Amino acid sequence: GNLTFTMIKPDAVKANNHAKILQHLIDAGFRIVALRMWCMSRNDAKRFYAVHKDKEFFEPLVDFMSSGPIVAAVLEKENAVAELRKIVGATDPEEAAEGTIRKLYGTARRYNAIHASDSDENARTEWSIHFTEADIICHIACSFSNFISVFVGCMFTSMFFASRLSVMKKAG
Ligand code: CMP
Repeated sequence: GNLTFTMIKPDAVKANNHAKILQHLIDAGFRIVALRMWCMSRNDAKRFYAVHKDKEFFEPLVDFMSSGPIVAAVLEKENAVAELRKIVGATDPEEAAEGTIRKLYGTARRYNAIHASDSDENARTEWSIHFTEADIICHIACSFSNFISVFVGCMFTSMFFASRLSVMKKAG
């Protein structure tokens, strides 16, 4: 699909790196479809990371993720899930490839600066914890209404020139 979800984690926001990370995403060809800076409660974080509830790192992860503001975003690009995971890099910043966001801004396996969804389905489940459908639809509705106004504008312009042309032809 063309959409994925990302979240800049509290470590990167505290270090004041969130704008740089968003710019990194934009420079990599992503468009920001929805954006929200807010604080998750422990319950929100538990819901978000429910798949990891049996892991030994779950409780500290939930504490960390609810320890300060995060920046959540829905991103658009062709083949979005795979493209985002490429530039985010491996979970452990030490293992992440040079130039990836986690290599640049992460400091530990837990404090790895950013989250990236691993499938289209998970992206949808994850962004629904941060956004309403309207937050995402609005972007699509805006592009649709822009498209319609440009289309109608072009139609009127060409009708105007066509009528001028026929007036000129009649006048010889
Ligand atoms: P993320 O891709 O958001 O998905 C689950 C998160 O749990 C992961 O990034 C890390 O922040 C964290 N995590 C994964 N493995 C470990 C680990 N072994 N120790 C501590 N935190 C981990």
